[in-house]
Amino acid sequence: MTPDPSTAAAWWRDAVIYQIYPRSFADANGDGVGDLPGVTARLEHVAALGVDAIWLSPFYRSPMADAGYDVADYREVDPVFGDLGDAERLVARAHDLGLRVLVDLVPNHTSDEHAWFRAALAASPLSPERERYVFRDGRGPRGEEPPNNWSSMFGGPAWTRVNEADHTPGQWYLHLFDSRQPDLNWQHPQVRAEFLDILRFWLDRGVDGFRVDVANALVKQEGLPDWDPIAALEKFGAEDAPVPPMWDQDEVHEIYRTWRDVVDSYDPAGSRILVAEAWVEPPTRLARYVRGDEMHQAFNFNYLGASWEADSLRQAVERSITANHAVGAPTTWVLSNHDVVRHATRFATARPGDHIGIGIGPRDPQPDATLGLRRARAASALMLALPGSAYLYQGEELGLPEHTTLPDEARQDPTWFRTDGGLVGRDGCRVPIPWHADAPAFGFNTTGATWLPQPPSYGELAADRQAGVAGSTLELYRAALRLRRELALGLGELTWDTTLGNERVVALRRTTPAGEILVLTNLGDQPVPVPKGMRVVLSTDDQLPAGPAVGADVTVWAIPDSRSPAGGPPT
Ligand code: NOJ
Repeated sequence: MTPDPSTAAAWWRDAVIYQIYPRSFADANGDGVGDLPGVTARLEHVAALGVDAIWLSPFYRSPMADAGYDVADYREVDPVFGDLGDAERLVARAHDLGLRVLVDLVPNHTSDEHAWFRAALAASPLSPERERYVFRDGRGPRGEEPPNNWSSMFGGPAWTRVNEADHTPGQWYLHLFDSRQPDLNWQHPQVRAEFLDILRFWLDRGVDGFRVDVANALVKQEGLPDWDPIAALEKFGAEDAPVPPMWDQDEVHEIYRTWRDVVDSYDPAGSRILVAEAWVEPPTRLARYVRGDEMHQAFNFNYLGASWEADSLRQAVERSITANHAVGAPTTWVLSNHDVVRHATRFATARPGDHIGIGIGPRDPQPDATLGLRRARAASALMLALPGSAYLYQGEELGLPEHTTLPDEARQDPTWFRTDGGLVGRDGCRVPIPWHADAPAFGFNTTGATWLPQPPSYGELAADRQAGVAGSTLELYRAALRLRRELALGLGELTWDTTLGNERVVALRRTTPAGEILVLTNLGDQPVPVPKGMRVVLSTDDQLPAGPAVGADVTVWAIPDSRSPAGGPPT
């Protein structure tokens, strides 16, 4: 069953896309790091979930200073993951199973081991080799101060000084992330041409699109002025908030128009897509990335950052839908990925938004796993009932929590090192996922080796423990994805239902090509009744499945009594 060409051009508008983090999905050769043959062997699980596509985090040649987001060769597969043939077999197998495939593209920076950066280090200041990156002289009498005050996203300064050929300290280069991830100079025509070619390289191998890493960072403000992020916080998220000089510059959009031309030139027309990873506020500025001639989707991190409060969720939904409507684009919902505390843990903490990118470690207060999972199930069912596309992160269909007690010596995230252990970083959401409760490494491989240790709690949550078990999180996701398709929940309109008169319930009516659906998420502590005449077709409650009331921290989907779930004749 290859992806259906008749719906090709619009497939992404309501698609559910499953993120695979190859290091931690499945490890075929048993070396402790997941690989592409491992992914291929387990694609049936993903197809059986009922998603439309997968997105693969980077598997390119890399010294892995940032788990592969530091690319040394964009056209090679890193040996730890396999080779180009493995990538081609993975794409073919996915297509056979009816899954489209998105790959990750990392255009803001390369690895320090990329041939261009090596050439830049070997060359002299003002050489053409240095112009492909952002090299500057330092400030101060001997150039000993960084060229400006920008900070790296992983902590410390965003500049590193190099030694010149005569071994004396020389220029500085910019890295918004780790010092081993030098930023490219996107004003340089060679950089632009190179990435058009990389797009074609992977499109020629059959991929269906690209998730674009830090899509809002490529262009920096002329003159690289100093920036005071603390002062800017006051207006964070406001329509008139100042635009930081390293993010979301207007000129970045012209780059994506050229990329759109490339993806559009592939068959079937309009079916290959671009997805922006852009932490941009407010939603009106994020919507600029999905104008008709730019990208197709942009992750809605505003929703991901919402707290477990009805108002916060309602506002995030409303603001994003309104902003995207204005440019004619659907919205792209997401709750977890490889950069944030898993939502089964995040929603059990006091201020969920605070844990984005920062992590939770053994010295932090430990979250209540039961409460977190209950809320996560409710949040996921709410997300999957919203119009637009949704992304899932591997393991959320098992209800996996963050690993919050990883030992210090296991840590790999550059955030941990660049903050001298001040922030634990993102390793806790990247732990290899469990397949079989009673196998070595919970079935991640057959040797038991894992690049990050798994918490014992992953055993009970293994896929084989949940498959076929009524009320399990895995079966909940399967049911939700099947119903989402039948009820066409990714399409159509959303209106808020205010008739319940309960501020702590998110209540929305969906009108889709399949009819009317009522969605209720109860963020209060008392059960609320399901309105008369409505029949619950999905409930996230593992205590009271499909009952007449919506318990605390539960989402239900309900349809008029008279209708069958598929929108066909009354049952
Ligand atoms: C966003 C990626 O998702 C993250 O994992 C990475 O560290 C940064 N971009 C830098 O590439």
